[in-house]
Amino acid sequence: MTVHPLRLALLTRNVDALRFGTLVTRWFAREVERCDEFKLDLIDLSVVPPADLSRRIDEADAVVIVTAEYNHAYPGDLKTAIDAVRRPWYAKPIAFVVYGGRSGGLRAAEQLRLVFAELHAVTIRDSLAFHEADFTSDGEPTDPTTPAAASALLTQLAWWSRPLRDARAQLPYPA
Ligand SMILES: Cc1cc2nc3c(=O)[nH]c(=O)nc-3n(C[C@H](O)[C@H](O)[C@H](O)COP(=O)(O)O)c2cc1C
Repeated sequence: MTVHPLRLALLTRNVDALRFGTLVTRWFAREVERCDEFKLDLIDLSVVPPADLSRRIDEADAVVIVTAEYNHAYPGDLKTAIDAVRRPWYAKPIAFVVYGGRSGGLRAAEQLRLVFAELHAVTIRDSLAFHEADFTSDGEPTDPTTPAAASALLTQLAWWSRPLRDARAQLPYPA
């Protein structure tokens, strides 16, 4: 029996500039590529056209959002993108990889949970949270337990992704 890989959309705000978020995105993308369960679709919010974003979220079986924390929340351009998509979020599992100052971006993740509850999405309880000292300038995590945390997050995400993919295929989400 062929087992189709799950499509994972990795949504990030920027992959071009030499920003901390770029290191985090590139590292997490490598973790996804190491995982047999998922096929990666890296989406850069700073360049993706809105119709393209909607289609790629629709085609995804799982979504991971990489974002910074701004003023105890997530950045406005991310909210604009989330609002523009709407229905493709329904019954989708979503995990967060966040970064920022002292809080490591955790408040961005918590605020996103409220938004995605309204959009009938399933957010994964665990998240990965970083500040700049957590990565070397070469883009590797300094804490040796970080790869295991990423792997655990992807395992949880896959657990939700398979049954939700089957359920959406059988019946559109009733909302
Ligand atoms: C407008 C603004 C507000 C910020 N607010 C917070 C904050 O509330 N908490 C925090 O931990 N970091 C905060 N930061 C720090 C950013 O999260 C951090 O610099 C991050 O690396 C920026 O990522 P970016 O380059 O992807 O935008 C803020 C940065 C900016 C520019």
